[in-house]
Amino acid sequence: MDDTPPFRPNALDSILTDAATLSFAMSCEERTGALLATLAASKPGGHMVELGTGVGAGTAWLLHGMSPDTRLASIEADPAAQAVAAKHLDHDARVTFESADADTWLTTYTGPPLAYVDCRPGKFHRLADLIALLEPGGLYIVDDLLPQPTWPEDHQPRVDTFLARLSEHPNLLVTPLRWASGLLIGTRV
Ligand SMILES: C[S@@+](CC[C@H](N)C(=O)[O-])C[C@H]1O[C@@H](n2cnc3c(N)ncnc32)[C@H](O)[C@@H]1O
Repeated sequence: MDDTPPFRPNALDSILTDAATLSFAMSCEERTGALLATLAASKPGGHMVELGTGVGAGTAWLLHGMSPDTRLASIEADPAAQAVAAKHLDHDARVTFESADADTWLTTYTGPPLAYVDCRPGKFHRLADLIALLEPGGLYIVDDLLPQPTWPEDHQPRVDTFLARLSEHPNLLVTPLRWASGLLIGTRV
């Protein structure tokens, strides 16, 4: 079985070229991206959140799956990284790029039915706050749960604690996947 994605966002190659110029090595891998697109397509008319835009690879995949009336807010603390995403994707009215710390942002936002969490807030801390934003049936997706070359030395215990404490959140039905970079998909129940 070849699990290479059978589709690809138009902007992805240009984004990845700019990412290489910036030496940004944290973009989601393509299988994860295809899954994001597929799950985004399951929420027509929904409001989605990406915590950690990076340079916009994940954003491009999410947009690929989103219906015309779906909206995405993508939050990033690093303006230089997010500028790449905006350069390639800002023409798409479905996405709003917000330059903010996800911690601060989480305090003020209400209600996405799909959340792709790709930075520490909403994942390694404040998971309960993130889950509280999801409506029943809302999806929670994280990646990079298997060791990554970009991890700092002290990161593995953070991931171990995150996985070990998921059972403390009975309102999130989760499946960890040893696939791609190590994913977790949860549904708010
Ligand atoms: C793994 S990369 C994102 C990759 C992107 N989501 C993708 O799928 O291609 C994580 C990003 O989160 C950003 N980040 C880290 N901590 C953050 C915070 N507290 N608030 C907002 N962004 C943050 C980093 O600057 C980095 O660009």
